[in-house]
Amino acid sequence: MTQQALAELTARLPGLRLLTEAGDLEHYGRDWTRRWTPAPLAIAMPASIEEVQGIVRWANECQVAIVPSGGRTGLSGGAVAARGELVLSLARMNRVLGFDAVDRMLTVQPGIALEAVQEAARGQGLIYPVDFAARGSCSIGGNIATNAGGIRVIRYGNTREWIGGLKVVAGNGELLDLNRGLVKNSSGYDFRQLMIGSEGTLGIVVEASLRLTDPPPAAQVMLLALPDMHAMMQVFALFRARLTLQAFEFFTEVALKHVLAHGAQRAIEGNHPFYVVTEFEAADERAQEAALAAFEQGLEQGWISDGVLAQSDAQAAALWRLREGITESLAPHKPYKNDVSVRIGALPAFLQEIQSLLAREYPQIEVVWFGHIGDGNLHINVLKPESLSDADFIAQCEHVTQLLADTLQRHGGSISAEHGIGLVKRAYLQSTRSAAEIALMRTVKAAFDPNGILNPGKLLI
Ligand code: MLT
Ligand code: ZN
Repeated sequence: MTQQALAELTARLPGLRLLTEAGDLEHYGRDWTRRWTPAPLAIAMPASIEEVQGIVRWANECQVAIVPSGGRTGLSGGAVAARGELVLSLARMNRVLGFDAVDRMLTVQPGIALEAVQEAARGQGLIYPVDFAARGSCSIGGNIATNAGGIRVIRYGNTREWIGGLKVVAGNGELLDLNRGLVKNSSGYDFRQLMIGSEGTLGIVVEASLRLTDPPPAAQVMLLALPDMHAMMQVFALFRARLTLQAFEFFTEVALKHVLAHGAQRAIEGNHPFYVVTEFEAADERAQEAALAAFEQGLEQGWISDGVLAQSDAQAAALWRLREGITESLAPHKPYKNDVSVRIGALPAFLQEIQSLLAREYPQIEVVWFGHIGDGNLHINVLKPESLSDADFIAQCEHVTQLLADTLQRHGGSISAEHGIGLVKRAYLQSTRSAAEIALMRTVKAAFDPNGILNPGKLLI
């Protein structure tokens, strides 16, 4: 049946690029999660909106599930095809389509890398401010599908804030032109926003109009060493009150150890439990003095143990590398990733509970903390010990994730801050969304994708 279905697809769309070699199935069938064995039916690489629509219509008629696919840098299994799905890769739809100077809007195809978007924006004297370490490989379509956050959310918000319009092929093959770049549009339900963060379960983004903004004034980057989490929250409050923060990111000595082993250079001597990389606007002397005054106050209070202010772009990049290199340095250890959030005000109590929960549940296992503390977003990575099999390790991590989910529920937090639910966190969705909400999510899914062909099994079980 499936081979017959593929033959039918080729007959309908003779120009469509279709890959079926084992190496391609393996490559395009997975994202950065390494838990599932890729087993897609084939990889379709459409070059136009019409081809995407043709594929979706074919999938409805032949009852083939589709996994929409971008840069496959996702960490929740949202782009994994392990059950004979057709991977619909948007890699060939990767161009800038236009720029409107009055609207300050860049229109792009979904397969373009985030970094290429950022470059195109700079080429217009503006910026696209969403940013994170996977910028060179992730695609804007994937960023939209997960409402990606990253390192500058504290200043600019999530991807959601920057999408002026979306063209989307819904689950029935219909092309929807959502919001069309309007600044004001009070005409009922905003389906553009519904698509953002829907993880490819409602529609496939085939074009996006991105809002750009002015470049920020000159910034400075500081690395701080801190004695404990309480101090970190005090320093955050102090710096946020005095400075315009572009980023406020934290990591632990354990995380630093991995990045250093991966080739980065230590910037502060000694072992400190916590570090913060912060970037703040420092256009003039007054702002720079305010930063130094805040730093000195933190030192006096005993909240800051040590610090370094980058003296050049190269030094700033080296400090950022200590934070941005963590994911890559942990990858060989097959980390089990938790990406959780609570309201910033709930962080101190939540952190205390989580610290004792993890110390109790993982006495022998290495747990690496880092993340976007200024957004209330923690990445808790659990590293697989050699002595445990993959299956035993996952079972233990899932048990602890359930406890984490219960704690989050008590604090009104979320089991996925920015990575998405995908396959990895779908069993814990009810800790973050009520039964009534999940029922509505199913109804919405059925409305946009009546035959359930778009990324089935992701987000909702
Ligand atoms: C990060 O903040 O570095 C990313 O979310 C990636 C990760 O959590 O590994
Ligand atoms: Zn992150």
